[in-house]
This record gives sequence, structure tokens and C-alpha cells, in this order.
Amino acid sequence: MKKDLLKMADLSQAELFEILDLAAKLKYEKKNGIEHHILKGQSLGMIFQKSSTRTRVSFETGIYQLGGQALFLSPRDLQIGRGEPLKDTARVLSRYLDGIMIRTFAQQEVEDLAKYASIPIINGLTDYCHPCQVLADLLTIREFKGGFDGLKMTYIGDGNNMANSLIVGGLLAGMKVSIACPKTHQPDEKVLDFTKNYGNMFMMTENILEAAQKSDVLFTDVWASMGQEDEAAERRRIFTGYQINAEVMDAANKGAMVQHCLPAHRGEEITEEVFEAHADEIFEEAENRLHAQKAVMVKLMAKA
Ligand code: CP
Ligand code: NVA
Repeated sequence: MKKDLLKMADLSQAELFEILDLAAKLKYEKKNGIEHHILKGQSLGMIFQKSSTRTRVSFETGIYQLGGQALFLSPRDLQIGRGEPLKDTARVLSRYLDGIMIRTFAQQEVEDLAKYASIPIINGLTDYCHPCQVLADLLTIREFKGGFDGLKMTYIGDGNNMANSLIVGGLLAGMKVSIACPKTHQPDEKVLDFTKNYGNMFMMTENILEAAQKSDVLFTDVWASMGQEDEAAERRRIFTGYQINAEVMDAANKGAMVQHCLPAHRGEEITEEVFEAHADEIFEEAENRLHAQKAVMVKLMAKA
């Protein structure tokens, strides 16, 4: 049966670690000039309903490095943009391509695409989640901290797609997870249900210093995500104070890492000073999108 990556909760802990191990191996080999054309002759379709720098470029170069090619499919050019049903598009594209990465709004669209396609579907961000990003984040944490055991990860800000995936991914990896967010902007109910299996490994508060207490890895994300541009002013008001700054860093453990999926809005969710002090970790995280996604494509698309 074909496999998809639609959300973090699709993965068991063992599958998560297999992807991270393969990503680390591919990264090491790439840096040492060892090439693998494991996906030779394969094509990945990339449907983008929203903007992207990292996701587009890392998938496109990633499949090329694995011997395949990527097709950038804009809804403006596809017949989807003129109303052709997704379920028909899924069945047609399955006859040409070997996998599809899709970035869109509703998670249901990705689930529908996966239902009707006979090739692997990879979620490249929806309003609900961002699993590819969190695989890269976990790879980065493991590189800088040497593992996950005994670590505490904290997310500060909007209970959005990043929060949803980080909570599931962090708990799956074995870390304690805390989140500080306004009561009105908590993570998705399904994610909060997931945390119930993890007892006191998870905590949620409105207090950023309480959440950051003794933390080893601090995350944040933009206050207004793609598609929420109209709410930007209102969100600026709601999220003022939900910022990674010097005070938050003081509450965290000495040597705590900072991660940001990017793009970042300095002066909003993170100060310029903290961002630049942790730029090495943040840009390694961005690089790791490439290695993590190559591992995902190999796992899902390589012919046995
Ligand atoms: N972090 C991330 O997904 O970046 P892009 O929106 O540039 O793809
Ligand atoms: N929460 C952000 C993440 C961007 C990578 C958004 O959805 O726009």
C-alpha cells in the first residue's frame, strides 16, 4: 500500500527516528560528495496554493540530488484554478508522477488528494500542520543537543500549524513540551487530545515565562500566518508579549537553542538580538529542510 505524509501523527516513534537517521546519513554523505540517485527517473509534482521559499527550493533541489525531477504546479496554471475537481486531478497526476507535495489551506484538501491519488502525497503545509518543517526541526535539535531524552521544548505564540506539528513531533520524539499562547488561539482540539496520552509531558499556559522555565529549545512563529493577512493588525494586538526575548532566554536553561521555521518578523515574535544570537541554529534548521525531505521522499517514493 502507498504511504503518505499528511501530518506528524501519521508517524510512529520508530518511523520518525528512521526518517531522522536517514536524513542524517544523507546529509553526511552529501557533504562528503557521495551521491545517491535513489529516485532516478522519478518526478515529484509540487502544488503551491501559498507562497514558499524554503519548501519549494528544498524539495526541488532535493529530488534533483536524488536523481529525479520536480514540476512546480501553480494552481493559476493548472485546471484546478478553473474548477477541475481535486479528485480528478489526483487521479490524472497519479498516472504521470511518482509523488506529489502540496501546500494549501484546508487539511481536508490534502486528505482528499491522498484518498484519490495512487502515489504518495506529502503535506508541504496546511492551515492545520507543517510536518516537513518539524522533521527538520527535530533533526536540528538532535544535532545540537545529541538526542531528545530529558529535553524540554517550548513554543511561544499562535496555536497554529507550527504549534500543532511541534507538539505532536516533540512528544513523539520523547521531549517534554510546553506552549504559551492566548486562550483564544490554542492549538487544534485534535492535537490537544493527542497530548492527553502524554500526561505531564505536556503543559499549556498563557504565561510565556512559565512555559520557558528550564527549557532547552525555544520555538516561535509569526503572529499572522499566510491567509491571515487581513487579521494582521488585530493579531498584533492579541499577540503582543508573545515574544522570544532576553527575559524568556533567562527563564530557559543556560545554552537553550532557538528555532524558527522562517520567515521571521523581528520585533514581533522574536527580537533581533535573540534571532541573531541564534542564527547558526536557525539557518541550520532551514538547511535541514533539504535533508529531512530527501529522507521523506526516499521513504515514500523509492521503489523496493
Ligand atoms: N518554513 C517554511 O516552510 O518556509 P517557506 O514558506 O519559505 O516554504
Ligand atoms: N505559520 C506560518 C508558517 C510559515 C512557514 C504560515 O502558515 O504562514
